[in-house]
Amino acid sequence: MSQVLTLQERMEGEAGSDPLRQAVKEAVAALAQAAVDISDLTCRGALAGITGQAQGRNTDGDVQKDLDVRADQIIRDALGKLPIAALASEEMADLDILNPGAPICVAFDPLDGSSNINTNMSVGTIFSIMPTPSDVNAAFKQAGSAQLAAGFVVYGPQTSLVLTLGRGVDIFTLDRVDRVFKLTGSTVQIPAEATEFAINASNRRHWDLPVRAYIDECLAGADGPGGKNFNMRWIGSLVAEAFRILIRGGIFLYPGDARDGYEEGRLRLVYEAHPMAFIVEQAGGGASTGRKRVLDIVPDSLHQRVPLIMGSIKNVQRLEHMHTVPDVALEANAPLFGNRGLFRV
Ligand code: F6P
Ligand code: MN
Repeated sequence: MSQVLTLQERMEGEAGSDPLRQAVKEAVAALAQAAVDISDLTCRGALAGITGQAQGRNTDGDVQKDLDVRADQIIRDALGKLPIAALASEEMADLDILNPGAPICVAFDPLDGSSNINTNMSVGTIFSIMPTPSDVNAAFKQAGSAQLAAGFVVYGPQTSLVLTLGRGVDIFTLDRVDRVFKLTGSTVQIPAEATEFAINASNRRHWDLPVRAYIDECLAGADGPGGKNFNMRWIGSLVAEAFRILIRGGIFLYPGDARDGYEEGRLRLVYEAHPMAFIVEQAGGGASTGRKRVLDIVPDSLHQRVPLIMGSIKNVQRLEHMHTVPDVALEANAPLFGNRGLFRV
């Protein structure tokens, strides 16, 4: 392969001498370095003492695995040395105020998809970088559209880092020889429409009608009103699903449902949905709750959940459209969504 830009070289070109961009650059570099170390741990698995066994529960009630705890520590150690006003992690109850005068704040999910650790499937790290507001306590009570940068890392067959600074999306691949990330994809574009969906279908009986109607339409394939066969994937690891969507399009759903505690779905707004929505929109896709744009939502609390529907823009728009169709019409379903076109977008 000819000479490729490293993440550091790419960031250098972006940051110039602007202090805010410099701070973002330093935070991204530290997160990338932490990702190299976490990647080593995921690759070595049991040899590095990673068992995938539960260690307890985090404040949101999720089972905490050994790698969750170690990844959280690695990232906090890496960011703790930088001029950062506040940190928030899935693994910490409250935000951690470091240096209130610093220009940026970082929220992260240290190890996403941790139920997959001991099954040797892809897991990842997600991060969101916010400007510091006048009251640092409100650092993570800003709309997603305020993000300065967002990214995620997938620890899969390759370790990949996806990054947006609000000017498109780049993909970097970890070069294990040099231990640095190198640019392998720039200006990533999600196909406008695709025939692959991802949802945990075991929850079907708990879904709202619009979600059920949309998935039924996908399942009906060429025999149904959509007229196209769909393929299905569910990895159970948001980072892996998001990466697949960036590469070949499709739609991912973790909707709210009728189970206790799942009214707003499962994913957290601040360090899962906001960064994913920023990346997906920057790649030409859509990210919605079904009723509103995810980036417009202002969090009330740090670990707040939100329904997340993201991916190819036309698929997301179709699902949003389903949410505007009255329930009675959805209940009667098939003929209204048929080729007569009454509810086609
Ligand atoms: O962080 C939450 C998460 O692990 C995501 O990575 C994934 O999309 C989801 O939970 C899987 O949820 P479920 O276990 O309900 O399929
Ligand atoms: Mn997660």
